[in-house]
Amino acid sequence: MNTIINSDINLAVELLKAGEVVALPTETVYGLAGNALDPAAITKIFAAKKRPQDNPLIIHVTGIEMVRELGLEIPDLAERLAESFWAGALTIIFKKTKTSVVPMEVSRGLDSVAVRVPDNSFFLETIRKCGFPLAAPSANLSGSPSPTRPKHVYADLNGRIPLIIDGGHCRIGIESTVIIIKNNQVKILRPGAITPEMLSEFAHVTVDDGINDVHQKLSNDISPSPGTKYKHYSPKAKVYAVIAENEKAFTKLVKGEQFVISRPAMQTLFARLRRFDQQNADKIYIRLPKREGIGFALYNRIIRAAEFNIIRADNIGTNNE
Ligand code: TXA
Ligand code: MG
Repeated sequence: MNTIINSDINLAVELLKAGEVVALPTETVYGLAGNALDPAAITKIFAAKKRPQDNPLIIHVTGIEMVRELGLEIPDLAERLAESFWAGALTIIFKKTKTSVVPMEVSRGLDSVAVRVPDNSFFLETIRKCGFPLAAPSANLSGSPSPTRPKHVYADLNGRIPLIIDGGHCRIGIESTVIIIKNNQVKILRPGAITPEMLSEFAHVTVDDGINDVHQKLSNDISPSPGTKYKHYSPKAKVYAVIAENEKAFTKLVKGEQFVISRPAMQTLFARLRRFDQQNADKIYIRLPKREGIGFALYNRIIRAAEFNIIRADNIGTNNE
């Protein structure tokens, strides 16, 4: 199969209506879309990106009415959050009702479904023209950094999918914030551009133990702890996340190193990891941002790319690791 790259939404719609999968731009990262109501299309998504079978997909819709049509329970708080943050980088997990039309293949046997409205006109127009919602994980091969440019999708999925819609660079550059609502409270399952601070204007906000544990561990125990279970967003090179109180300590630590990210930013992190891989980097050093506000999501992606190889630059002596 020859993978085409263009901006022909009508072609995308034609393919999607025929049960094919198509890479589409969103404001966060590129998604690999298929008809959310068609089990065969969902199976194609999993095959194309070699996604582990137990990882459920996000359904992309044009608005809250479409969530209702999917047969999902909508608590008041979810409705308020959707009003404020959609279209945008907030994915909300909804419980299925007994009459839900979401196929098992999307939710992988869970009794809940993740949904968001992407803030991208190509994507929204495609959903409208299709007339059905689109399930879409990030359009990378499973385990590699999420794609933020058409060429990233092409590098991973060329020959595996028919079409990539070129929407240029993704504005945000990391995946959406994923939340679940329980007892009128918000729990963050994956940090993103919608921050805990932004959400806390609407409800009490907590962070899932899985995320907290890992970050907690870092502050108490700096020894490298490779967590293969959490391998994600990873380039081929070995990534070191560096805790440095000041620029000077960081500069000293990475002296002579070729592949260094001293001021990581959401828009460019994944692209830079991919570029370094192309240059056959064996080691990449990234300075960790402060774990607050927007830095929280970035910090989270960096330690995962680093598979928990953490170095503290302040104690720098003869042994840096
Ligand atoms: O920004 C984004 O969210 C991008 C764009 C394409 O929308 N999509 C994305 O999808 O990052 P994906 O599949 O790479 O990540 C979806 C995340 C996974 O961590 C998955 O486990 C979680 O959402 N998820 C999906 N359904 C869930 C559910 N019912 N309960 C808990 N977590 C769920
Ligand atoms: Mg992904």
